[in-house]
Amino acid sequence: MHIKLNNFVDDVHALLKKTNISHQVHEPSIPQSTFKYLSDCIKSTYLSSEGKYLQKFETGLQKMTGSNKILLTNTGTSALQVALKIIDVEQKEVLVPSMTFVATTNAIIYNNGIPHFIDCEQNKLNIDHRLLEDYLKKITRMRNNKCINKITNKEIVGIIVVHSYGYPANFDAIKNICKKYHLQILEDAAAALGSYYKDRHLGTLGRMGIISFNGNKIITTGMGGALICKTTSDYKVAKHLISTGKIPPSHKYLHDTIGFNYRMANINAASGYSQLLNIRQILRKKVELRKKYFDLISTYDFCDLLESTSNEKPNYWINNIVISAKNKSYKDQLVKKFHKKRIYVRELWTPQHRLKMFKNYPRMDLTNSLDIWKRTISLPSSINL
Ligand SMILES: Cc1ncc(COP(=O)(O)O)c(C=O)c1O
Repeated sequence: MHIKLNNFVDDVHALLKKTNISHQVHEPSIPQSTFKYLSDCIKSTYLSSEGKYLQKFETGLQKMTGSNKILLTNTGTSALQVALKIIDVEQKEVLVPSMTFVATTNAIIYNNGIPHFIDCEQNKLNIDHRLLEDYLKKITRMRNNKCINKITNKEIVGIIVVHSYGYPANFDAIKNICKKYHLQILEDAAAALGSYYKDRHLGTLGRMGIISFNGNKIITTGMGGALICKTTSDYKVAKHLISTGKIPPSHKYLHDTIGFNYRMANINAASGYSQLLNIRQILRKKVELRKKYFDLISTYDFCDLLESTSNEKPNYWINNIVISAKNKSYKDQLVKKFHKKRIYVRELWTPQHRLKMFKNYPRMDLTNSLDIWKRTISLPSSINL
C-alpha cells in the first residue's frame, strides 16, 4: 500500500511544474500586462472607489456572464452579506449546504439569520435535491405562503445554492423545490467564474448571486467580489448599500441609511481586468490540466477524480480526488506524503455543522457531507502548471 501511495505522489509531482520549489492548491497567475495596468491606475491617482478600471472590469464581467446588473465589491463575503440583507433573513432560517466555506454561513449570521444546514449528494459536493425535498416535506408546513419549520416554528426564507469548488449545482431541480416552498434563491458562485449551467453563467440563475476574486480564485483582484442581481430594484438597493448609503449631491456628505463601505477599489479592478482579458486561455488551461489529472488518476484504483453531474460546464478551478470508501484511511497518509514533498494539498472545507460556533443550528442528516469531507483531497491546480 505504501508503494502505491508513494507512486501516486511521485506521479503527481512529475505532472507539476518542476521549476516550482513548492506547490499550493491554487496560486495566482499574474500576466505581465497587470503591471502595466496597475502602474497606469496608480499614475491616474484614481485608486479607490472611482476610476476607469472599475468600468472596464464590470463591462468585461457583463459580457462574460450575460448580466448587466453587476456590482463590484471588496470581497465575495460582503456581496453575500448585502444580498442576504436585501432578502431580510433576520430571525429567519436560511438553508445552506454544510459543505461550504465558512464565509457563506458567516454572512447569514452577520444578518442575524439562522443557518439551517443541508446535505450534499453522495460522492459529490453539491446539494442533493431529492434529500432536500424529502426533508422539507417532513419538517415544514406553509402558513400565509411562508415556509415554516414545524420544529423551530421559524420561517425558512430561502436557500443559498453553493456551486462548490466551481461545480454547478443541479439548479433546475432546486428551483422547482424553491417554487413549491416559496423560498428565495441566492447563489454562492464564489469559485465559479467561467462555470456554466445549461449555457448560463453561474451566479445569474437565482435572485442574486456572488463571485469571489480572492487570491486563490481563477482570476484575482487581491481581495474582491461581485454581486449579480436579477432585478433593477435589487441592483439599486444593493448599489446604495455598498456605497455607504450616500445620496446626492456628490459634494455633500448625506446618507439616508446605515450602509457599508463595500465597493471594489479601482486598483483592484485594474488587476482583475488585466486577467479577465485572458480568461478564455485560462479556462482552456484548466481543461488541459484536468485531462492530465484524469489520465493519471485513471491508472490508480483507490481514488477517482471528483466529477460533476450532467448538463454542467465547470471551470475546473480545483481538481479534487475522492478516495474509495474501503481505502479512506489512505487520506491522511497521502496528505503527509504530499506535504513532505512540499506539495501542499488540502482537505475540503470542514462541514459547517462541525465548526464549534455552528454546532447548535438546525440541520438535516449530513452523512454525505461528512463522508466526502473525510475522503477528498484538493490537488494543486494553478493555471501555470
Ligand atoms: C464558497 C465560498 N463562499 C464565499 C467565499 C467568500 O469569498 P471572499 O473570500 O471573496 O470573501 C468563498 C471564498 O473563498 C467561498 O469559497
